[in-house]
Amino acid sequence: MGKLDGKVAVITAATSGMALATGKLFVEEGAYVFITGRNQQKLDEAVKSIGRNVTGVQGDASNLADLDRLFDQVKKEKGRIDILFASAGYGDAAPIGAVTEEQFDTTFNTNVRGTLFTVQKALPLMPDESSIILNGSIAGIKGFPAFCVYNASKAAVRSFARTWLVDLKDRRIRVNVLSPGPIETGVWDHIPKEAKEQFIRMVPRGTIGQPEEIATAALFLASSDSGFVNGIELFVDGGTAQI
Ligand SMILES: NC(=O)c1ccc[n+]([C@@H]2O[C@H](COP(=O)([O-])OP(=O)(O)OC[C@H]3O[C@@H](n4cnc5c(N)ncnc54)[C@H](OP(=O)(O)O)[C@@H]3O)[C@@H](O)[C@H]2O)c1
Repeated sequence: MGKLDGKVAVITAATSGMALATGKLFVEEGAYVFITGRNQQKLDEAVKSIGRNVTGVQGDASNLADLDRLFDQVKKEKGRIDILFASAGYGDAAPIGAVTEEQFDTTFNTNVRGTLFTVQKALPLMPDESSIILNGSIAGIKGFPAFCVYNASKAAVRSFARTWLVDLKDRRIRVNVLSPGPIETGVWDHIPKEAKEQFIRMVPRGTIGQPEEIATAALFLASSDSGFVNGIELFVDGGTAQI
């Protein structure tokens, strides 16, 4: 018996990285999963790699019309969402003095506005006692140099969970934040090698985290194993932000 037998999950931005690993694990544990991504070809490949009990819906998690299309399709195909993992996030470097309006808008549109409307638009399909997981980051409690916009956007995501758990308490919907440390995904392709190595040196075990190590933590927050866990920020960072 799987930990998510019969459950319906929606995972945004899940065509690669930790959200794709989470989609695979959720399906292995018995869930039906809807995944999203902007690039149709990558989405098709991700659906193929999950293999069964999965629907891919093309769209940008920061675009409200795309979110409406996503949830319309979920409603038509399954009628409900038991688990929502709002994972879409964006960040790039610019120290204060060099931040552009475009960088600020892209980051906050995806991480803050996109997360809020993903949750708000999913809620009508979420039954009592369902689980919402927001993808945060250790950046939300850190002052990583040149990442002020990203750091602040993830602090906002963490804040959302505190208020939403109260707003949703009558429906007993749990809202938790999963905050990864450095994880081996495509985002590092665009970051200079030296900066990546610097981040990895901060991890006590000396190696970068793997997407599968996020998936197992997401499974915990999604399943009834975490039934009395609400409003927390679960750091999955090998201790990086704890020292
Ligand atoms: N990797 C890390 O070290 C790390 C650390 C802390 C926190 N995080 C957070 O973890 C989350 C996932 O990160 P990741 O590194 O696994 O992801 P990723 O590799 O950046 O993205 C995974 C996939 O999501 C799709 N995607 C990106 N933005 C999207 C959007 N706005 N709407 C829909 N799909 C989108 C991309 O495909 P398309 O281009 O086809 O859309 C991409 O292949 C983010 O919120 C990130 O901030 C990451």
